[in-house]
Amino acid sequence: MRIILGVGGGIAAYKSATLLRLFTEAGHSVTVIPTASAGEFVGRATWEALSGQKVPEGIFDDVEKVNHVRLGQEADLIVVAPATADLLARAAAGMANDLLTNTLLMAACPVLMAPAMHTEMWRHPATSANVKLLRERGITVLEPATGRLTGVDSGPGRLPEPDEIYAAAMNTAGGASDGAAVTQPDARQTAAFQSPVAHSAAVQPAAGPLAGRTFVITAGGTREPLDPVRYLGNRSSGKQGAALAKAALDAGATVHFIAAHTEVEPPAGVELTAVETALELREAAQAAAQAADVVVMAAAVADFRPAELSGSKIKKRDDGEDPVITLVRNPDILQELVQNRDATGSTGVPLIVGFAAETGDAESDILSYARRKLERKGCDLLVLNQVGTGVVFGQDETSVQILSPGTEDTEAASGTKADVAVAIIDRIAVELKAQH
Ligand code: CTP
Repeated sequence: MRIILGVGGGIAAYKSATLLRLFTEAGHSVTVIPTASAGEFVGRATWEALSGQKVPEGIFDDVEKVNHVRLGQEADLIVVAPATADLLARAAAGMANDLLTNTLLMAACPVLMAPAMHTEMWRHPATSANVKLLRERGITVLEPATGRLTGVDSGPGRLPEPDEIYAAAMNTAGGASDGAAVTQPDARQTAAFQSPVAHSAAVQPAAGPLAGRTFVITAGGTREPLDPVRYLGNRSSGKQGAALAKAALDAGATVHFIAAHTEVEPPAGVELTAVETALELREAAQAAAQAADVVVMAAAVADFRPAELSGSKIKKRDDGEDPVITLVRNPDILQELVQNRDATGSTGVPLIVGFAAETGDAESDILSYARRKLERKGCDLLVLNQVGTGVVFGQDETSVQILSPGTEDTEAASGTKADVAVAIIDRIAVELKAQH
């Protein structure tokens, strides 16, 4: 792949030398374009020695090579690390006042930006707006890591580790391996997340049975607000969804992870959309499903939400009258996804996988409930697990049965959530193979 490595003027520029090495050692051809202020931190000689390529001069040097046009046009992937607040602002504004921003404006390839700055700058509304805009345009902007910053302060703003940026870059490039063609940027490349704590030891280009496939995985429990401080929630930890995302990534898929409230970090390398309520999850899932091969609804979605949201904290009343909370139904997101897909006449794409958390009761056993649920929701696979206080929610060990329409046979899997996730992803891979 022809990679442009844009380097902004921040102390973290030194880490980009390691990133450059990871790219070149994997066989990619890398041209480094440092900004003028990046030169204050790392010199041209370092970039040229490590890349084996000349660092292009500014816009008005080597004019006959038309660098300001050519470099962006010819690139298969552009990675900007560190992306300073200033660089994010200039990119968002579409400015072209140096070679790097010219190249970004010319780019027809995927672009990933890895921000690094002080926490105050990262949290400034101007930076948040710039990041939002860039993500809306299909650019992958990583979340910065949290930790020690320049000087004595610490907080979010650290450049993610080079191996994390490398893994995210490979995912952004559509899992393209050395020299392979890359996909154009699209709506999938939003909000990529690199966990500040999870480290991706594997820095190989995406490969595996699911390379080139895009998964949407929802996880965690939705929270339905009652007032600014209270909500209706559930006991979902999001562990199973996170384990599924990890298993799908390990099998080479690109993963768009839609996380409601979770107790665990999303695995490094996913594209993250954080949501709170069922309605937000529905909007995110519907948008992401359009570009997906598979949608896995592992989230515990609240079936009901308060009919009214109080703008201020609900107070105890002096007259002793207690509030009555009226609930209204939330849409069934899984069922809608199936209906929307089938209405477009697409033949089973995306493949849709539901989960059923059942307790069973005197009337029926959990398998009969699950069969009815599979039929009612119309999904392609249904993963059944038994729940109850202390069972499954938050635990690391679990056991599931996987049901599919048209057969009484079920496939069982048990062990840690990671083991079970691998079994579910394997089953999905079989289904994908059978369908296409
Ligand atoms: N689900 C959904 N939208 C909802 C409720 C659930 O998309 N409003 C999805 C879940 O993500 C899961 C599946 O539907 O994949 C089944 O969830 P579950 O809570 O077991 O089923 P319910 O539809 O809530 O059925 P019931 O409460 O009748 O058991």
